[in-house]
Amino acid sequence: MPTSAPRRDVRELTHEGLVFGCDYNSEQWPRETWHEDVVLMREAGITLVAVNIFGWATLNPAEGVWDFSLLDEILDLLHANQIAVNLGTATASTPAWLTTAYPEVLPVAADGTRRFPGGRQAWCPSSPVYRERSKELVTRIADRYGSHPAVALWHVSNELGCHNALCYCDVSATAFREWLKERYVTIDALNTAWGTTFWSQRYGEWDEILPPRATISTTNPGQELDFHRFSSDALLDQYRAEAEVIRTRSEAPVTTNFMVAAHIRNLDYWSWASDMDVVANDHYLDHRLADPVVEMGFSSDLSRGLAGGKPWLLMETAVGAVNWQPLNVARVPGELQRQMVAHIAHGADGVCFFQWRASTQGSEKFHSALVPHAGTDTRAWREVVALGSTMKDLAELQGTVVKAEVALLFGWDSWWAADADNHPSSEVRYLEQVHATYAALRASGVTVDVVSPDADLSPYRLIVVPALYSVTDATAAAVADAVAMGATAFVTFFSGIVDENDRVRLGGYPGAFRGLLGVLVEEFSPVPADVTLALTSGGKARLWTEYVRAEGAEVIDRFEDGPVAGSPVVTRNQVGSGAAWYAASALEPETLAALMSRVVEDSGVIPMPAAGPEVEVVRRVGVDASYLFVINHSLKDVSVDVSGMELVQRREVDGDLTVPAGTARVVREETA
Ligand code: GLA
Repeated sequence: MPTSAPRRDVRELTHEGLVFGCDYNSEQWPRETWHEDVVLMREAGITLVAVNIFGWATLNPAEGVWDFSLLDEILDLLHANQIAVNLGTATASTPAWLTTAYPEVLPVAADGTRRFPGGRQAWCPSSPVYRERSKELVTRIADRYGSHPAVALWHVSNELGCHNALCYCDVSATAFREWLKERYVTIDALNTAWGTTFWSQRYGEWDEILPPRATISTTNPGQELDFHRFSSDALLDQYRAEAEVIRTRSEAPVTTNFMVAAHIRNLDYWSWASDMDVVANDHYLDHRLADPVVEMGFSSDLSRGLAGGKPWLLMETAVGAVNWQPLNVARVPGELQRQMVAHIAHGADGVCFFQWRASTQGSEKFHSALVPHAGTDTRAWREVVALGSTMKDLAELQGTVVKAEVALLFGWDSWWAADADNHPSSEVRYLEQVHATYAALRASGVTVDVVSPDADLSPYRLIVVPALYSVTDATAAAVADAVAMGATAFVTFFSGIVDENDRVRLGGYPGAFRGLLGVLVEEFSPVPADVTLALTSGGKARLWTEYVRAEGAEVIDRFEDGPVAGSPVVTRNQVGSGAAWYAASALEPETLAALMSRVVEDSGVIPMPAAGPEVEVVRRVGVDASYLFVINHSLKDVSVDVSGMELVQRREVDGDLTVPAGTARVVREETA
């Protein structure tokens, strides 16, 4: 699978079975509640509890003043109740005394204005003061709890870069220059990479370079791209600094919670993954999206990709509604269990929640929690207890893995570069195109590995490349080599357009893939979002047209109307025993799904039985057994031909498993 892999195993976190955990912000509650809470945690079957995530001001209430007594007590209490601890380093949110004494720690926005404290994550990732103070905090915590028997996992910071990923202050400017010197060595190389002859932007000295602060016109795209890369690396440095302190004081694995989400894009997790002892992701259903459940599947498959195919941990999700969307939708009965089993199906070895007990104060007081405001005589609590029991029933899945024959190439470089200003259409958004393609794959019933553009593609029979705008020569060669060896590729429009420096590949689009696809695109001609384009096949498309010339490829479908009526829209190029397909527009979901089924068939990948747009069927494989998951998100019962022991209901099935609407089942398959 991908280039990087975590170093340790989720199996270490709790001895047996899947992890069932939560964040516990114990600082917000009196001691009596703690004692009630551990009893309830045991009732629900909680095995791992994250504490001290936002504890800095409690541990270190004033400069030079330290008090670990509450944390001592909570760790001992959890341990006495056989609950393992995921110990936070508490560095995510700084105490008021720190930013009052050292205001230079506060981050600066692109317009040069400093952000005030009073929220969270109000620190500049490159600040030496913040680095020194946060390391002092982590050193004290790791010295004190490095060998505490409760500590099963270290939780560095919290969602690094959630709010403060891009800081434009003078300290960041200096750090950015140092990063650039390392990347380019000479100022000439930087000028070439950024194309600074354009608009007289040439730099003579390193000191002339700034972060891409707000300008009166558009900034340099190369500078923007490198600032994203630098900013991701700056936060990774913070993670590394904290992890290094911990690793010299504790044997327990170290991680931080990733945010593979539709609205967060500032960290290139491909470059972070190998620093994680286990990969952990936070996922919340985003009801602003057309299909939040499809995005959930994508996020899980990408988390598995980041884990190099090994099991990963869902570190945070919500039992019900969140509090940060315009309309915060609660889960309907049964949805929690179905979706958590879906995360397990996609390779998670455990699910954890934000948070244990719903807060009474603070901006997250209306965020759902395992223990709701209404208490435990509630439907929500009963579903939590039932889920805890399902996690126990699925214990034997621990350590098993998902195998896929389809790879979808995904890269943050393309996300950053493709969504820049001044492109052919601001309606074409990278992630939307990725999600649309992933949805079509899911509808066609195949299991997908979401992998880095640098991944080894040799294990895959089908390689899907949606809107991969920025492509290195090495990636283009790897896709072409895989096809030459007999694989099938499916590439969508606005792929392969530029190199890693955002420099357009000349000679016709889609530059890096032109030869492989056997097409040449002369010109783009996007259309407004409300225009529907008809295709000769009867299919429909939106957003994008282009003048495609088939140069060896067979034309499968054409634009019937629109600015390039008659021009090819879907092509297939036979390359030895492999094939390379191209879609030159944003095909409507049904059209894309139908095409994808055809591409899947062409590739020889066999779809999972009974799988479809609303029914996920996935297999996890272990040393001694294999497990078939059927996740029925639809309103109709489905039947699957499978025999073995069904683990959720603990009953034998013999060739005909009925999965009622809205439920999930897992069968340990009989081997012949
Ligand atoms: C993130 C954070 C948590 C909390 C939740 C709310 O996952 O890590 O601290 O803010 O979001 O959904």
